[in-house]
Amino acid sequence: MNAALRAVVRTGSYYGMDVYGIYRGYAGMLENDFSQLSPRSVNHILQKGGTFLKSVRSLEFKEKEHRIKAIENLKARKITGLIGIGGDGTFAGLTRLSEEAEITCVGIPGTIDNDIAGTEYTIGFDTACNTVIDAVDKIRDTALSHNRVFFIEVMGRDSGLIAEQAALASGALMAIVPGRPTAVEDIKKKLDRGAKNKKTSSIIIVSEGAEIPAYKLREEFSLKYPEYESKLTILGHLQRGGSPSRFDRNMASRMGYHAVDFILDGCSDGMVSVINNEILFKPFGTTEQKTHEDLLKLIDILST
Ligand code: F6P
Repeated sequence: MNAALRAVVRTGSYYGMDVYGIYRGYAGMLENDFSQLSPRSVNHILQKGGTFLKSVRSLEFKEKEHRIKAIENLKARKITGLIGIGGDGTFAGLTRLSEEAEITCVGIPGTIDNDIAGTEYTIGFDTACNTVIDAVDKIRDTALSHNRVFFIEVMGRDSGLIAEQAALASGALMAIVPGRPTAVEDIKKKLDRGAKNKKTSSIIIVSEGAEIPAYKLREEFSLKYPEYESKLTILGHLQRGGSPSRFDRNMASRMGYHAVDFILDGCSDGMVSVINNEILFKPFGTTEQKTHEDLLKLIDILST
C-alpha cells in the first residue's frame, strides 16, 4: 500500500494538486486527522510493507450521522477528489461519500486475499504468496528429513487463492480451499498415491476459510492415521508484512498513478481494476468474478 500512496502523492503533486493523507482511514476522516503531503513526505516508503497512514476498521463511519462530520472535514479543506485503498468495506464508504458529498471517489484494491470482484489483482497478494512459498520451502526441509506430514494454514479469508498459488509454487501435495470440502480420507488417498511413487515429504496447504480448519483436520488425521507423524504450522500475520515484491511495488505504483488520472478524468464511484495487465476504471458493484484455470487439478497432477 505504501507504493500506491507514494504514487498517488507524487502524481497528484506533479499535476499541481494539493494532496492530503488521512490517517487511519475513515476513523481519521471522522476525527479530522489529515496531513498535507508533498513528494518528500513519501520518501523511502516504497520498500516498506503496510501503510504509513495506518489502517483501522471504523464502525462509526457506517452511520450517516457520523459521516456528516467526515464530509465537513473534507469540505473544510476543499477536497474534491478522494482515493481509498482497501477492500469491500473501503469501497462501500467511497460509494456513500460520492453520493452524499459529491466528491469524486476512486478505490484502489488492496488486500492480500485477492478476493475483490472486477479486478484480477489486489495489492499485497504477490508478496503474501512469496512469503508463504518461502516458509513452505523451509518447512519442507524438516518434512523431508523426518518423513512428516505438515498441515500449513495460510490466510485468504474465503478466497483460497493464496493457498492455491502457494501450493502450486511450492510443490505441495494439495491445497484445501473454501467451497471444496476435503475429508481426512481424501488426504490419505493422496498420501498412498505418493507413497507408491516413493514420495517422502508431504505438505498440505489449508486456507483459513476451509470447511474444516487446519488444526481440526490435522487432529482428525492423526487420530485416524496414527502411523503418520503430522505437524501443524499456522503462518498467521507474518503473511501480511515484509518488504513488497517487485511485482507488488510496480503494480501498486501503476494503480496509484492511474487512480489520480481517473480522478482528473472525472471518473467516480469505481475502482482501479487490473485485467490482463491493463489498468482500467471499473464502477463499483460489479460481481464479475476472476477467471482462473483449475489450479487444483494442476497441483494434483504435479504433486504425484
Ligand atoms: O483480509 C486480509 C486478511 O489478512 C485475511 O487474510 C485475514 O483473514 C484477515 O485479514 C486478518 O485480519 P486481522 O488482522 O484483523 O485479524
